[in-house]
Amino acid sequence: MLKINTPMSKLPGSYLFADIAKRVNEFSAKNPDKKLIRLGIGDVTQPLAPAVVNAMTKAVQEMGNKNTFHGYPPAFGYDFLINAIIANDYKSRGVDISPDEVFVSDGAKSDSGNIQELFSSEERIAVTDPVYPVYVDSNAMAGRAGVYSNGMWGQLCYLPVTAENDFVPELPDRHVDVIYLCYPNNPTGTTLTNDQLKPFVDYAIKHGSLIIYDAAYKAFINTPNVPRSIYEIEGAKSCAIECCSFSKTAGFTGVRCAYTIVPKEVFGVDDNIKKVSLRDLWARRQSTKFNGVSYIVQRGAEAVFSPDGKKQCQTTINYYMKNATLIREELKKAGYTVFGGVDAPYVWLKTPNNISGWDFFDLLLKKAQVVGTPGEGFGPSGAGYFRLTAFNTYEATQEALAKILAI
Ligand code: MLT
Repeated sequence: MLKINTPMSKLPGSYLFADIAKRVNEFSAKNPDKKLIRLGIGDVTQPLAPAVVNAMTKAVQEMGNKNTFHGYPPAFGYDFLINAIIANDYKSRGVDISPDEVFVSDGAKSDSGNIQELFSSEERIAVTDPVYPVYVDSNAMAGRAGVYSNGMWGQLCYLPVTAENDFVPELPDRHVDVIYLCYPNNPTGTTLTNDQLKPFVDYAIKHGSLIIYDAAYKAFINTPNVPRSIYEIEGAKSCAIECCSFSKTAGFTGVRCAYTIVPKEVFGVDDNIKKVSLRDLWARRQSTKFNGVSYIVQRGAEAVFSPDGKKQCQTTINYYMKNATLIREELKKAGYTVFGGVDAPYVWLKTPNNISGWDFFDLLLKKAQVVGTPGEGFGPSGAGYFRLTAFNTYEATQEALAKILAI
């Protein structure tokens, strides 16, 4: 009989957002007349920018013509998109990235989940807590997280981010090999300044550790001194891999396009303590297991960086940030303690009367028909917190707030 991957079978429950969808579907089945307002999963609602639609339409036409048809895309992305990423997201910020360090993919979720295939099963992992569950679950599936008990994995190093430390994680108090950081942070919506991020880069250089930096929400940063890329911090190119995405920047959640930077200076060691390039390992992994992003989608992503595309995407980001401001300010006025929502499309709030995040989830669902995400779903330090997203329409966000405040 086939022997299964036991650590995978020990994962608790289902993936957070699948779990929430199940509860919401059960509620809807019992209450078919109740209209729900979804401020739960961070899925976008606004249409693609016209510049993106035009570029994709043109690409579709090219695919229908034998002279301009494209078959398999290059495994790591077309040069036109890689060059646009480098020019707009790195060179413009003084960061030097070469084309063979850019890997275009179908999502930051898949890349940040798959990247752990490069590490030995003994490596020790640190995550901020609360955390985007993909980093934890993907390492747990590979047997690196130990035993799950009382909401915590025995072998993970948790770095709490709560109101008590102003959402700035302490450095690990022991040696860790990999640190996952996501900034602007999902789920708390908070950020780190250059000075707050630098100690992590220094730690990684000193300990020979690797940082996986998820910058999927960088387009929402408004505040000066908050880096959009970890490579703005000196030394980071020797110790960090960065995952970025068009999902939230340009409304690509249903289109699928992202990219990960694996600098040539980042190394690990093999069993004989011989240095191995992580860039080369990732290239090997991707070319074996991934067949690239379609020409049509990559032309759409390229258009995000065109003058019109930039303006149009910024307008949509501003729209979502207006929602974030509304959520923050209305909840604050009503006496809630709220965080985030300034440089990120997520608002993180303390639940009223210290009830659990799941109890608050049930309360909002039953009394206001608003769907949010309980803090506990993101880790033990999320207990007593709740996340609302700014990705719905302004009207729906207004309606949701009116209903929440009327409870
Ligand atoms: C979230 O709600 O945390 C995000 O939508 C998840 C994701 O981007 O995969």
